[in-house]
Amino acid sequence: MIYNKLSDFAENFLWGASTSAYQVEGAWNEDGKSPSIIDMYKHPEGYADFTIASDHYHRFREDIALFAKMGLKAYRFSIAWTRIIPEDNQKINKLGVEHYRDVIAECKKYNIEPIVTMYHFDLPWYLEEKGGWLNRETIDRFEEYCKVLFTEYGKDIKYWLTINEQNTMILHPGAIGTPPNKPLPTKKELYQMNHHMMLAQARVMKLCHKLCPNAKIGPALNLTAMYAETCKPEDAIAAHNWEVLRCWNFADVPVFGFYHPLAVKYLEDRDLMPEIQPDDKQTLLNAKPDFIAMNYYSTATIAASQGNASDVSARAGDQQIMLGEQGVYRAAENPYVAKSQYGWVIDPTGFRYTLRKVYERYRLPILITENGIGASDKLEEDGTIHDLYRIDFYEKHLLAMKEAITDGVDMLGYCPWAALDVVSTHQGYAKRYGFLYVDRDEQDLKQMKRIEKDSFYWYQKTIAENGKNI
Ligand code: BG6
Repeated sequence: MIYNKLSDFAENFLWGASTSAYQVEGAWNEDGKSPSIIDMYKHPEGYADFTIASDHYHRFREDIALFAKMGLKAYRFSIAWTRIIPEDNQKINKLGVEHYRDVIAECKKYNIEPIVTMYHFDLPWYLEEKGGWLNRETIDRFEEYCKVLFTEYGKDIKYWLTINEQNTMILHPGAIGTPPNKPLPTKKELYQMNHHMMLAQARVMKLCHKLCPNAKIGPALNLTAMYAETCKPEDAIAAHNWEVLRCWNFADVPVFGFYHPLAVKYLEDRDLMPEIQPDDKQTLLNAKPDFIAMNYYSTATIAASQGNASDVSARAGDQQIMLGEQGVYRAAENPYVAKSQYGWVIDPTGFRYTLRKVYERYRLPILITENGIGASDKLEEDGTIHDLYRIDFYEKHLLAMKEAITDGVDMLGYCPWAALDVVSTHQGYAKRYGFLYVDRDEQDLKQMKRIEKDSFYWYQKTIAENGKNI
C-alpha cells in the first residue's frame, strides 16, 4: 500500500531502549546473587564472559543519566531472578530487591518508564539442578518469584514482560550456551518445558492482573514473517509450517489459551506432545496478555522440505543455530534483502509485514522490545564512533514501523537493542549493539568508559522530534 500521507507517531509513544540483566550487569556473585544457568553454561572461548559485562550493576546511575540525555521515554531491562531469590529456600534477598528499587527510582527521576522483563534466559542454577523447566515445580517457583516482583514494585511498574524469547529457548536450546557435562534436552523434553513455561506465564499474567490492576503484561517473543522461496505452492506450505511452529504457536497460547491446530498435529505425529494435566487447559484459558512484546531482527525465507536430512543446515555466520527441519521446511536464501556483517538478514519491509501479521492475528497493541544491528564498532583515535550503518538500519526500520502504523497497527513503543553495549550471546564485545559504547575489550576491562556513538545523537534527535524526521 502506498499512502499519500503517513501517520505520525502517537504523542505518548514509548521511545525506549533495552538490555537484559546478565548481558550488562556483571556483579555475577555480588550482594547475595547466586549463579544462573548463564553463569554455569559453557560460552564460546576467546570472548568476554558475563561476570563483569558492562558493569551496569555498579554504574546504572551514570547509565540512566545518559539514557535521559538521549531522551529515552522508556528503559526495558530484566530483573535477575537469582538476585531476588538466590536459594531454593525461597528467602528473599533484600539487597537484590533494593538494587532494582534503586534502578526503578533512577528511571522515574528522569521520567523514564521502566519496562521490566521478569525472566530473560537466566534460570536459577538451583532450579536447573532439579530439572529446570522440565520439572513442574519450576512453575510454582516462577509464580512465587513474580509475586515478589509484583508486591515490591507493583505500584511503579506499568509494563511487565513475562518470558523473553521462549521460542528461542525451545527451538534453539544451544543458543544461550550449553550445560556442563550434559547433552542438550531432546525435542520431546523441550516441548514439555515449553508447556510448563506456558502454564507459568499464564499464572503470572493472571496474578499480575489481580495484584497490579493498573499494570499491563505480555509475552516477549521473537516474531518474524516467513517468505516462500518461490511461488511454488509447496514452498508456501513450508513457509507456513515454519511460521506456525516458530512464531504463532508460541503467541497463540498466551492470547487464545490453546495451541495452534497445525502445531498440535505436528506434535502428535512426531510423538512430541507434552503431558498435559487435566487443569492445564483451564489455566491457559484463564489468562490473557494486554499487549504483545516483540523482538524483531530478521525475516526468513523458506523452501519446501525434501523429506531428508539435507533439510537441516547451520545458519550462515552462526554455527550454533541450525535451521531447517526434516519434513517441515528448508532454509533458503533471499536475494532481495541485505545482510549484516554477521550474516543476519536486514529487512525493514519484513518488519512492516511482520507487524501487520501479528496485529491482524492478535489485535493487541505491540511493543517492540528488541530490534537492532550487531556490528564491530570502531572507536576512533579522537574518541568518536561513527556507526552510520546503525543509523541507516534504524531509519529504515522506523520508516517501516511508521508505515505499519499507517496500515492500522497499534504500536505502543519501540525499545531497540540495545541501550548500551552488551555482551552478545556468541561474540562478546566484538559484536556491539548499543547507542553507548562501553570501552572494554574481551579480556581487557580498561576503564569501561561510556562513549556516545553517532547513533546516540541520531536517536536523541529522533525522539525529540517524535519521529517527524522519519
Ligand atoms: C535476542 C536476545 O534474541 O537477540 C538478546 O533476546 C540477544 O539477549 C539478541 O543479545 C542478539 O543476539 P546476539 O546473539 O547477537 O547477542
